[in-house]
Amino acid sequence: MILWLLACDPTPEVTDLDPATCAACHPAQYQEWEGSMHAHAADDPVFLALNEKAVATEGVPEDFCVRCHAPVALALGETQDGLNLESVPQSMKGVGCTFCHQLEGSTGPANGAVSWVWDGVMRGALDDPLKNDAHKNAYGAALDRDAPESSQVCGSCHDVVLPSGLHLEQSYVEWDASVFYEGLSRQSCGHCHLPSRPGRAAEVDGAPSRRIHDHSMPGVDVALVPWPDADRQRDLIQELLDKTLLAELCVVPEAGGSKVILTLENVLAGHNFPSGASHDRRVWVEVLGFSGSTQVLSSGEVGEEQAVLDLQQADLVLLHDEARTASGDISHGIVDAVSVSRRGLEAPRELGLPHARSYSWSVPGQVLEAVDVRVRMRPVGLDLLMPLVAEGLLSPAEVQAMPTFDLGSTALHWEDELGSCVGGQQ
Ligand code: HEC
Ligand code: HEC
Ligand code: HEC
Ligand code: HEC
Ligand code: HEC
Repeated sequence: MILWLLACDPTPEVTDLDPATCAACHPAQYQEWEGSMHAHAADDPVFLALNEKAVATEGVPEDFCVRCHAPVALALGETQDGLNLESVPQSMKGVGCTFCHQLEGSTGPANGAVSWVWDGVMRGALDDPLKNDAHKNAYGAALDRDAPESSQVCGSCHDVVLPSGLHLEQSYVEWDASVFYEGLSRQSCGHCHLPSRPGRAAEVDGAPSRRIHDHSMPGVDVALVPWPDADRQRDLIQELLDKTLLAELCVVPEAGGSKVILTLENVLAGHNFPSGASHDRRVWVEVLGFSGSTQVLSSGEVGEEQAVLDLQQADLVLLHDEARTASGDISHGIVDAVSVSRRGLEAPRELGLPHARSYSWSVPGQVLEAVDVRVRMRPVGLDLLMPLVAEGLLSPAEVQAMPTFDLGSTALHWEDELGSCVGGQQ
């Protein structure tokens, strides 16, 4: 549960919470944040559609979704259930500057369990901040990438436990089990997701040079509606996805035919790939095999507007988690999930311990001469989005805006004698 610790100080004016006011002195942080999914979290049309369905579901608290997607609006009583988000001031939507920077810490492992103090004191990692007229400053371990508390705060919002008890989304739990949790390879959420560079924390006279942190926080999701800096966000996501996996493709002889073996290793993500809302992602392998000019192998080959789950291929390799409803269907509504099977590629659990996984496709009676593979990803599956259009909760244009990313490092072409491999280098 969220513990709202409202301070005794006089309540600041609501305008004080507007992230736009921070831009005057923190232009870089503002611009990066503005294009991020944190800023977009309560404007995402898929969120609005699924929230409406969740609120109508018996046994689901009405504020279940907004406590993470619009925590400021909820805390200030501007919304109870997110159904009126259209009329909530933009400055209170999403995960804003003054939400993160007034966090004191985490009060539980999931579902937005954080303590938030509305006292106008901006917490951060600086222990010698310059005084300024806009706000007071304080050191806060919850906002210090180097302190363990900081990952717990990210984790409280990034792990989702459904009212039924199902731990559906678990980026924190996955990170906690990985080699990045402690020791020599320790990397907090912030180390990877807020990379630092030299710069000034505030663009004001006398501000010293420090290390500042990128607030773009690209992941997987993109804005499906017009949004600031949308192209830049997409480029950042592509850049991240292009480096996340290490892939090796081998083609070997097998009983008079051929066998394609693809080995994938998660080398960059500090948790599973994919993580978090993995159950709504669609991540699959496309494999095409040729003998001469004849195509003799096709798996995961989908059209631009085709849902990958419509393929019904026995040899289709899917890497996202599979959440199912009580009636055994694929879950399309988050809160209707009763079980989940994990298929994501894990982060290393111990240094040097192999954690790659191999997948294979047999082609009996054919000697393959060329093979093309790539891992592809849609942030949210078309099988989930199409029914929302039919229900009038999403527009066809919003579905068309859903991209399909190809993971650059996994796009491999093999053309050789059987028994040889390509890729595999880092
Ligand atoms: C009039 C200029 C000004 C405005 C407006 C302003 N700040 Fe600041 N802020 C500063 C200065 C100056 C510092 C200290 C920089 C330094 O020491 O290098 C600072 C520091 C910070 C820090 C670091 C605190 C720490 O102790 O690590 C955070 C976080 C922060 N501001 C957030 C915000 C947010 C959020 C807003 C908008 C609600 C905002 N600021 C508006 C001037 C401003
Ligand atoms: C108030 C809860 C909350 C806190 C605290 C929070 N996040 Fe988020 N985060 C969200 C929500 C909600 C989204 C947006 C969901 C969406 O994609 O629409 C998000 C999106 C993201 C994304 C982009 C995911 C994607 O697939 O596009 C990254 C990366 C991320 N957060 C990292 C962090 C890190 C690192 C921290 C800690 C410094 C953090 N978050 C703290 C709620 C939170
Ligand atoms: C070692 C670096 C590293 C660490 C540590 C790390 N991440 Fe990530 N994270 C990545 C990379 C790389 C991606 C992009 C690939 C992917 O989607 O998994 C990513 C993606 C994400 C996404 C989008 C995932 C998806 O598939 O929807 C979220 C959300 C996220 N991280 C949250 C977190 C949180 C929360 C923590 C801390 C508990 C954390 N990350 C720790 C590197 C890291
Ligand atoms: C998801 C949480 C989150 C949100 C939202 C967020 N920040 Fe930050 N911010 C951080 C973290 C974490 C750090 C500190 C990293 C460190 O130094 O270890 C930070 C650092 C800062 C700093 C210190 C300078 C720097 O770049 O390290 C300033 C100033 C700042 N943020 C301003 C803002 C402003 C302005 C906004 C909104 C436009 C904002 N932040 C939104 C988490 C957040
Ligand atoms: C514990 C905080 C939390 C709660 C509760 C929560 N979300 Fe999210 N949501 C997130 C975070 C964090 C992400 C980004 C995860 C990622 O990138 O993997 C996200 C991503 C999303 C996305 C974009 C990706 C996708 O899965 O389609 C949608 C839509 C969404 N949430 C809807 C909802 C709805 C509807 C509810 C209520 C039933 C809800 N969320 C409850 C934190 C939360």
